[in-house]
Amino acid sequence: MNTPVNAPVDATANTPADTFEELHGHAPEGEWAAPGRVNLIGEHTDYNLGFVLPIALPQAVRAQARRRDDGRLRLWSAQGDGVVADLAVADLAPGSVPGWAAFPAAVVWALREAGHPVGGADFRLESDVPGGAGLSSSAALECVVAIAYNDLYGLGLSAPELALIAQRAENDFVGVPCGIMDQMASMCCRPGAALHLDSRDLTMRQVPLDLAGAGLALLVLDTRVKHDLGDGAYAALRAGCERAAALLGLPALRELTPAGLPAALPRLPEELRQLVRHVVTENERVTAAVAHLDAGRPAALGPILTAGHASLRDDYRVSCPETDLAVEAALAAGAHGARMTGGGFGGSVIALVDAPAADTVAAAVTTAFRAAGYAAPRTLTAVPAEGARRTG
Ligand code: GLA
Repeated sequence: MNTPVNAPVDATANTPADTFEELHGHAPEGEWAAPGRVNLIGEHTDYNLGFVLPIALPQAVRAQARRRDDGRLRLWSAQGDGVVADLAVADLAPGSVPGWAAFPAAVVWALREAGHPVGGADFRLESDVPGGAGLSSSAALECVVAIAYNDLYGLGLSAPELALIAQRAENDFVGVPCGIMDQMASMCCRPGAALHLDSRDLTMRQVPLDLAGAGLALLVLDTRVKHDLGDGAYAALRAGCERAAALLGLPALRELTPAGLPAALPRLPEELRQLVRHVVTENERVTAAVAHLDAGRPAALGPILTAGHASLRDDYRVSCPETDLAVEAALAAGAHGARMTGGGFGGSVIALVDAPAADTVAAAVTTAFRAAGYAAPRTLTAVPAEGARRTG
């Protein structure tokens, strides 16, 4: 069949009863999962080659897949539009695939661009990572396809290598200039730990994080808003940071220390100074947070989270009224600390709370949202979960 790339050829009802066999006519070769994430601290530091500290969520994208030898990539998602996207792998090109199917297609394209001569596959995908909530549902989708292809085609790539493929997919095929945090979190996080990642060389350490053992809980409050300016603004912020580094003669803002900040700021145009201050202070906050976790003081993360939010709100300016209100209401209800997580302009807020107070804090945020005329936030409790893996 010579179907043009992108053409959805199978009108298939989108119901939970759509099994792999019904969709593709044979059994899958295996099953894989890749999680969403929340970042504890270290926001907008990854593309400045600094530090981040994410955890994986129990929520994940799950894939069943089978290799095909006819060069077709056939994709169906329970969260999709009810059709199998049937794409010719050899024709994949940036901008050629609309909608959700662009993310898996991007990974196959990026693998081939990196010199791995992979062909087609059948996929059935299903996700419980809330979309548009700043919880990296896109990275989870990329990573589950990357890890499945790694096994189906015997590529032997490591988890960080697959994360870099997924990031390239998003940068160059989907067209979002994201850093490496989300893909590394989805690929490399471990249960019961936060991932202390150095974005410069991808060295990492699993930092034990036993919230329940410390009587704590990490609430994720999805504000359910995503302000439009997010897309273009992210690229503009990244470009601003890169311009500031170049003006300072540095390869990346990561190289600027807090001690060097007072001398560096006057050398920069006014509009770049606050960006730089956020990045430098945020890297310090990651280091301080890791020190508290290593010392067995997870509750001490609270003030660091709250300071991180103030910096994102006042210096980096990626907050919005909904995330600010969620942070304020959570703190007023007794949270140890709270901040927006992810790229900003909406999305989710995390709040570190005493476990018995979790419901009270969540209810207080809901009440504040109702009073402000906002839709009720969706609430999850984050438990550090496992990164991408084969599940069947
Ligand atoms: C998005 C990007 C990440 C990172 C965060 C901000 O999630 O995908 O690479 O830059 O924003 O920390």
